[in-house]
Amino acid sequence: MAGMEYSDIVVRTKEDEGRYAVSDNIRRHGYEKAFLELQETLSSLGVDVSRHTFDEDTFRRLEESFAAAEKYRLLRPGGVPPWSFLGLCILHDLLAPQHYLESGYYRGSSLLAALSNSRLRKIHGFDPNPNNLALPGFPDHVSATLVEEDFSKAAPRNTHGAEALVYFDDHINTAQRILEAQKKGYRHLLFDDSCGLTGTSQRHWPSMPTLYFIVHVDDLEPGDFVEWPSPIGRARDGSGGDGQLRVTFDAELIDLCRRAKDVISGWTKLPNLADYVLWPSASGYPDVTQHLVLLKDS
Ligand SMILES: C[S@@+](CC[C@H](N)C(=O)[O-])C[C@H]1O[C@@H](n2cnc3c(N)ncnc32)[C@H](O)[C@@H]1O
Repeated sequence: MAGMEYSDIVVRTKEDEGRYAVSDNIRRHGYEKAFLELQETLSSLGVDVSRHTFDEDTFRRLEESFAAAEKYRLLRPGGVPPWSFLGLCILHDLLAPQHYLESGYYRGSSLLAALSNSRLRKIHGFDPNPNNLALPGFPDHVSATLVEEDFSKAAPRNTHGAEALVYFDDHINTAQRILEAQKKGYRHLLFDDSCGLTGTSQRHWPSMPTLYFIVHVDDLEPGDFVEWPSPIGRARDGSGGDGQLRVTFDAELIDLCRRAKDVISGWTKLPNLADYVLWPSASGYPDVTQHLVLLKDS
């Protein structure tokens, strides 16, 4: 029937090699578009990224970062997916912090993205379970300190001003993390998994209250709640409990959100860059939007 044919430019073969690939030219232009989108996002937040341009060296470094991520098998569930990895590499290029702190480093995919910044000199990593780290080491010019203690106790006070970036990928209360970081003098924070309603309901360990509730705290009234079934369905495996999750906003929690909001000077969602990387299961992924948060001076 006319109008119902599939596209006849797709060549179909009997091979079944399970290969995903795009030509260098398409990949390069995709990375460049991702770079420009992130550059625009940061400029709209007032961050000066005007001196940065995308060139052959940027492309080469991104290719090297992806090759290393592939080699150490870092872009797997639990770590960051490839489009977030691309965004993190570009973000580190644009912000170029000298000091990077990460709470929740797990296998090390986001630590690897941080290493794409040649100005980086110091890393502090925090994770109560360091045994999953798959990154074999750090370059000589970067001093890395990885500890099992919590950021709130073990992170040093910021001595690098806006040249420090803290990444929270630990699923801990976002309001608490904002206040802790502000107390220690950090101004540039990045949050993974601190989502809106749907993203929250896709998690068994959401970083509640997430940034969504903090920036919209004026909408909240005591007794407001969010409730959702656990996506890992503990109740159905016979272990009991944890099958239905609920967060109720009482006056104390609303006050915590308000105190966190009061120290924020600006925030933005990082763009979804899935258009610019080829990845088989991108559409089945939960919401992994990342947010950049700028804090007022402490
Ligand atoms: C989603 S994974 C992090 C993924 C990682 N950023 C990567 O790119 O591979 C969450 C990690 O947070 C860690 N975690 C749990 N509680 C934490 C805490 N209080 N402080 C820091 N990390 C914590 C877990 O052990 C886990 O390794």
